[in-house]
Amino acid sequence: MPMEKYQYMSNVWRDGIFDNKVVFCTGGAGTICSAQVRAMVALGANACIIGRNTEKTENMAKDIATSRKGAKVIGIGAVDVRKPELLQAAAERCVRELGSLDFVIAGAAGNFLAPMDQVSPNAMKSVIDIDVLGSYNTVKATLPYLVDSARKHRTDGKTQPLHGTGGRIIFVSATLHYAGTPLQSHVSVAKAGVDAMAVSVAIEQGPKGITSNIIAPGPIADTEGIARLSSSEGRNRSYKAIPSGRFGTVKEIADATIYLFSDSGNYVNGETIVVDGGQWHTAGFANG
Ligand code: HXC
Repeated sequence: MPMEKYQYMSNVWRDGIFDNKVVFCTGGAGTICSAQVRAMVALGANACIIGRNTEKTENMAKDIATSRKGAKVIGIGAVDVRKPELLQAAAERCVRELGSLDFVIAGAAGNFLAPMDQVSPNAMKSVIDIDVLGSYNTVKATLPYLVDSARKHRTDGKTQPLHGTGGRIIFVSATLHYAGTPLQSHVSVAKAGVDAMAVSVAIEQGPKGITSNIIAPGPIADTEGIARLSSSEGRNRSYKAIPSGRFGTVKEIADATIYLFSDSGNYVNGETIVVDGGQWHTAGFANG
């Protein structure tokens, strides 16, 4: 494995663990989700990334494909996750062109900073629709393929699933709603809904071999979220409040993703992995 791969994940992972598997990711042109997909692709997966901006999504797909010789990565732009028919078509194209759909990352999100009295009904609805309805539309469009993928690796339920289990979903959430966070009522409401959905999917679809988990990133360096949501004063304050003493990296989100999608995560279902350096446990969190 060439060394440069390790900028996207830790070197504890093994080449080829996702061979012949396909990951489908909404918000796939964003900084966090593209790193998650890049790591999966480097370890053998092919991928389909979904975004609203066609040029950005297609360029990101080409770039991710360079992570491994022979990798196939499709970028499908002009897909708003609020439109179920567009996600349906994207999932169908993914399976038609890549052969299966084994893993889903529901990563598309919308956000801005505003006090609730300046959030219009349409603004509140937009964020809830992108995050909650968009995640629902993503699950709805991909679930039949995930169930197929899980079925291939099922056993009698008493023994370990076979190596290379598919049928897994990760919802990319946040930690904002674990306490009250100023200027973030809209996204807090939306992410709480996403978390509830992830657990419902886990318990309802678990018997079919599906796992459904949440990754909740804290402040991750060099992301659109941090750039847009933090003033430099806010950044400095929250930096000090993080027990690990630094912002996280996208590589650390990618590592959590690989854990949940690999055989290491076979029996983890309905859980949240918070990757925030311990920030949400601190008293300074809410105003960080
Ligand atoms: C108040 C705002 C606003 C702002 C938009 N609106 N920006 N209100 N303050 N800064 C209002 C608009 O006026 C409009 O309401 C409504 O929101 C919808 O806006 P549109 O632009 O028409 O719609 P849409 O294209 O759907 O935009 C959705 C969006 C936008 C959420 C508003 O910001 C977006 O698409 N963002 C996607 C990219 C993004 O945010 N990525 C960062 C995710 S980071 P009216 O009433 O005027 O019609 C993240 C991590 C969180 O989620 C954790 C961080 C630590």
